[in-house]
Amino acid sequence: MKGADLAGSRIMVTGGGGFLGRRIVDRLEERGANAIVVRSADYDLTEPERVRAALQDAQADYVIHAAAVVGGIGANREHPGSFFYANAVMGVHLIHEAWRAGIRKLLIVGTVCSYPKYAEVPFREDDLWSGYPEETNAPYGLAKKMLLVQAQAYRDEYGFESVVVIPTNLFGPGDNFDYDTSHVIPAIIRKCVEAREAGNDEVVLWGTGKATREFLYVDDAAEGLVLGLQKLEGRDPVNLGSATEIAIADLAELIARTTGFRGRFAWDASKPDGQPRRAVDGSRARDLLGWSPRVGIEDGLRRTVDWYLENRAEIRS
Ligand SMILES: NC(=O)c1ccc[n+]([C@@H]2O[C@H](COP(=O)([O-])OP(=O)(O)OC[C@H]3O[C@@H](n4cnc5c(N)ncnc54)[C@H](OP(=O)(O)O)[C@@H]3O)[C@@H](O)[C@H]2O)c1
Repeated sequence: MKGADLAGSRIMVTGGGGFLGRRIVDRLEERGANAIVVRSADYDLTEPERVRAALQDAQADYVIHAAAVVGGIGANREHPGSFFYANAVMGVHLIHEAWRAGIRKLLIVGTVCSYPKYAEVPFREDDLWSGYPEETNAPYGLAKKMLLVQAQAYRDEYGFESVVVIPTNLFGPGDNFDYDTSHVIPAIIRKCVEAREAGNDEVVLWGTGKATREFLYVDDAAEGLVLGLQKLEGRDPVNLGSATEIAIADLAELIARTTGFRGRFAWDASKPDGQPRRAVDGSRARDLLGWSPRVGIEDGLRRTVDWYLENRAEIRS
């Protein structure tokens, strides 16, 4: 189904009410598809009968699996068991039931946390199995990596068409700003805004600031994923990245400039850095999807900070 036209098709999106899921739904609707959003309040996807009910009710042609239990280093460290269980079990049931329901194609949203801790940078898809992931996010990353194994096994045994796309760290408007569960960008934005408003001249951040990450704007990721549903074929996973590796200390300076925080950062090295370096090789996505990101880090941070400032009251309530 190379270049499939999604117009008029029914596409079930698990996690379709989440940060990334909402943007996927927008991209599908722009293409004239009928997106069916699955919410956890209606369908707890850790329960196989609720997965069956979701598929039965949706009567979908295609499925995008974006539901997951996610969080930053702190949440991953605190909840390794529940992160492993929920992500493994949701995916296992979903792939199995989607195959049984005769879904034409399933796209699974992977995670850069599945890569080995010391994979050569930039991470190539073929390096996924060259070592164990960084310890704090290994239960989450490995649970999600098992879905790649299951997808390949169901393709081999049953001919079930599914593809795995692996976005790097995401950011953008609509992100999670809760200190207990947020990722690094919303956490630093919130700390800087609150420090500026309180007149504090120091913000304490986790780790050494030396770890690097690659950040992808959420709308760019959503577009790459929908192109993946349209165009990808075969068993090999595909990375989505922005080709810009940045140290957390440099990121913090950019966020300070964007939020107007003029104080200094203190680094709490007793807290983990997470994976030492992270950046993906995006050449497969360029070649197979004709995709490349449009929104750079500075522009994306400006949009994210603006969104946070406009929506703070609502987020709190
Ligand atoms: N954020 C990142 O930096 C990043 C990077 C790479 C990959 N990803 C992947 O991108 C996908 C979306 O992540 P996100 O950042 O958008 O997270 P998110 O905002 O937390 O969205 C995930 C959604 O999963 C749903 N969900 C969780 N448990 C569920 C359950 N038991 N049953 C049904 N639905 C459940 C939730 O739906 P409700 O809202 O209905 O409760 C939630 O909205 C995930 O697969 C994640 O692994 C994220």
